[in-house]
Amino acid sequence: MPRPDNPRPAGIPLASSAERMEALRTRLGGFAFGGDYNPEQWDRAVWREDVELMRRAGVNIVTLGVFAWASLEPEPGVFTFEWMDEVMDLLHSAGIAVDLATPTMAPPAWLSQKWPETLPVMADGETFGFGNRLHYDPSSPVYRERAAIITRALAERYSRHPALAMWHISNEYGPTAYNAESSVSFRAWLQREYGSLGALNDAWYTRFWSQTYTDWAQVDVPAVPRSWMNPARQLDFKRFVSDALLECFVAERDIVREYRDDLPVVTNFMRFYRNADYWKWAREEDAVALDIYPNPGEEDSWVSAALNFDLMRSLKGAPWVLMEQAASAVSQWKVNNVKRPGMMRAGSYQAIAHGSDTVLYFQWRASRGGHERFHSAMLPHSGTASRTWVEVEAFGNELPLIKDALGATSRSDIAVLFDWDAWWALTETHGLPRNEFDYPQLVTDHYRPLLEAHHGVDLVSFDSDLSGYRMLVIPNAYLITDRFIAELTRFVEGGGVVVCSFFSGVVDEVNQVRQPAYPGGLRGLIGGYVDEYWPARDAETFGVRFDDDGGSESTADWWQDSLHAESASVRAVYTSGLLDGRAAVLENAVGDGHVVYLGTRLEPAALARVLTGEAERAGIRSLVPDAPAHVEATLRESAGARFLFLVNHSETDAATVALPFAGRDLLAGTDVEDALTLAPLGVAVVRAQHS
Ligand code: GLA
Repeated sequence: MPRPDNPRPAGIPLASSAERMEALRTRLGGFAFGGDYNPEQWDRAVWREDVELMRRAGVNIVTLGVFAWASLEPEPGVFTFEWMDEVMDLLHSAGIAVDLATPTMAPPAWLSQKWPETLPVMADGETFGFGNRLHYDPSSPVYRERAAIITRALAERYSRHPALAMWHISNEYGPTAYNAESSVSFRAWLQREYGSLGALNDAWYTRFWSQTYTDWAQVDVPAVPRSWMNPARQLDFKRFVSDALLECFVAERDIVREYRDDLPVVTNFMRFYRNADYWKWAREEDAVALDIYPNPGEEDSWVSAALNFDLMRSLKGAPWVLMEQAASAVSQWKVNNVKRPGMMRAGSYQAIAHGSDTVLYFQWRASRGGHERFHSAMLPHSGTASRTWVEVEAFGNELPLIKDALGATSRSDIAVLFDWDAWWALTETHGLPRNEFDYPQLVTDHYRPLLEAHHGVDLVSFDSDLSGYRMLVIPNAYLITDRFIAELTRFVEGGGVVVCSFFSGVVDEVNQVRQPAYPGGLRGLIGGYVDEYWPARDAETFGVRFDDDGGSESTADWWQDSLHAESASVRAVYTSGLLDGRAAVLENAVGDGHVVYLGTRLEPAALARVLTGEAERAGIRSLVPDAPAHVEATLRESAGARFLFLVNHSETDAATVALPFAGRDLLAGTDVEDALTLAPLGVAVVRAQHS
């Protein structure tokens, strides 16, 4: 197959991810602003209007072709690129760059018809048919082959097109399939992981219920459960699904790289997505990209958005790409509320405040038909005579004011553990003392008080290096790895502070209870042990008294560890219930640091007191200590400059914030000294006078 010349002479190393992203920033000359563009849904005349309006709104990049497989390859091997050539040329002539997508998320009807084995079989045994999207089994060799063909054809045609600035591989990788071919891949994955059937049997503890395998052919995907399933098998299946999807991404990425290695290649992640271990995925991406749709009908949906944004920044420790958000309403819930005036702007700056270098939307122009016909767009059905357009246009033209913050990074003293193995073990396997854990919610509960106290927070995984942090929060990490225990021990001995909540450290990597129990993995660190886990009865609450100056009283519910202090001191005791008088919270000194262990679910105010109190003890300063909880504050820094972002999430209340430094409010264009006032949903970006 003929290939265009690669611009890099042989022997020159491939560009790094950081170089590719830096080149994109330089090319765009500011924050990327734009969205998904689906011109295949419209006549040519509309394309011209699109481009004109894009220019008016300050759009500098669009994502093209995400769902265009059927329009690009109407029959197997027959390509109709002419329309896309025209669109690419048109965009280029208007100075708009293209983030070109491989369209492999939505295979065309001919593919499903000719090769029905590519359609995913779901856990209940039903086949997910054509007519939606994501209708592919990631393990299907035919699907992978057809995806490679269209990817190569696109790369061959457009790699050298001057509009091309970035590759967008597929879209929101997601399906879990239980096809016969998935079992073949699962087996191969297990053979690579364990080497021998004996090792697999040990890891899966198969002597229980006589599940011993004597032939690899007996091992298959855990579909259609008729009874409780083997928890190690379920956990490995989650890992496998994530890896199978990642293989699809890597295969397409490597094809486009063959043609050019200087452009960023990414795919878009989803909010708290459980089928893909994004820590692992991030290593394969040039930048982390996120699609996020906080519910504008929920007043505090900005909190979980903040956590998602911090997670995205932390995954690569670098500025990230806000790939999709809604200009206003979405179309996926029962009631789809609009973003009220100012909310889209506030949410967009919020993403930038947490490290994004882009503000992109799904989508540019609202579709007239299809499931998402009422999903908002930068250009709504009512065109420029609409509130949303006015806000989008104003925002696009305002964004260059903060251009200097582009590429700036953040560093935090506090880290919160967010790990997919911990998540899967806690929620995807059954048979726990309580089977209702909601991992993202638990992490959010621990994160929220730190956010509301205006502390910067990073997220870390079991594989992270903790050495740069002063405080670590471990929310309910039932599974914990050997490597992390060693890292944690180093961290605490070196002076780190850890706050760890109940039911953590219980099992190892293969979901077997660590001995001596409990929590085998953390017993030395928490300085105590649990002889039994006691989930609470419905509506049962317990009094808890802290051993602080005032002997403060609070309550707890949902769970109790029957906790015994060993080397630890008791920081709080129960004041009611069957464990009345017994330890609820421990504190254990380890080396130069200490571990606070919470053996129950404290009421939110008490949890907040523990977390912010420990931050204070660790000498970590809040960015704006007196600001109200609904004002978010973050810092981004670059060589010689510091930018304070303040976002007021209240729809009704203005907020006056005392500033940590004097500087220039870049959006208002005024100098600010001691304090500034934010209107409801108001934003300020203060560039420090002195760096
Ligand atoms: C996702 C998808 C888009 C669109 C939006 C809005 O993020 O990637 O194709 O469906 O959601 O619902």
